Amino acid sequence: MTRAPSELLGLARTIAIEAGELAVRRRREGVQIAATKSTIVDVVTEADREVELLIRSRICDARPGDAILGEEGGLGEDGGAASGTSGLTWVVDPIDGTVNYLYGIPHYAVSIAVVEGEPDPRTWTGLAGCVLNPAIGELFTASRGEGAFLSSGGGAAAPIRIAEPVPLELALINTGFAYNATTRGRQGEVVARLLPLVRDIRRMGTASLDLCMVASGRANAYVERTLSPWDHAAGAIIAREAGAVVKGFADAAPSRDLILAAEPALAAVLELLLLELGMRFELPAN
Ligand code: IPD
Ligand code: CA
Repeated sequence: MTRAPSELLGLARTIAIEAGELAVRRRREGVQIAATKSTIVDVVTEADREVELLIRSRICDARPGDAILGEEGGLGEDGGAASGTSGLTWVVDPIDGTVNYLYGIPHYAVSIAVVEGEPDPRTWTGLAGCVLNPAIGELFTASRGEGAFLSSGGGAAAPIRIAEPVPLELALINTGFAYNATTRGRQGEVVARLLPLVRDIRRMGTASLDLCMVASGRANAYVERTLSPWDHAAGAIIAREAGAVVKGFADAAPSRDLILAAEPALAAVLELLLLELGMRFELPAN
């Protein structure tokens, strides 16, 4: 069975489009919270679960040997990883930006990546990534070594690149906050120190799209802690292929500890500044 990144991307794209149509339909019909997860503000809707089941079944039918790591799990549990035999894992966030989805804000995404190696973002190699905002019909895609693309409204895919370098004081920086209230408070303190030093801050609410914003030059940098693998798997591939550095602290790969995506020179300056501002505080276990 093929392992060619461009062919894996083709399948990811087809599945994401079908999944996005289902998410939009369910959104139109009205959305309700099905359960809360890590805290009372960390929610899952029936649509998240249904969309993930659809994605899982399409992947299993097409590529039975591949593993699947998805946010909602096969049985409604978090982080269910169906094991495979091929060494490839599909990393799936059926609806990234669930809170936006719940409130009817048209900024949420179906995010599907294919990675090689252990299903751990600290060591895996991203092969293909697809992030679809089905509410506005924007589809971001990338496969390893072949660049990043944006297709709008079902049109042809056009190459995307990160923005031209800017100094820190002109940088528009996307970020996000943890669901845990204590962690959020600490993150707010860091942001309060950062805000006077940059152009502005955005908290859009969908990590995968934050990475695509950097990839397409709509933001200069994105930084967040406490993400799960499915939040950033696809977006990281897209941002890298568009020319961004996507990293954790120091030499680490992106993980729950940190993801920082930016034009390379800005990434270096911003990381140092964030360390000075107290960004690297100890996170709670979950
Ligand atoms: C969340 C979003 C948000 C980020 C959170 C994620 P979810 O994903 O990506 O932007 O700040 O950390 O958990 O829960 O909406 O799939
Ligand atoms: Ca998510």
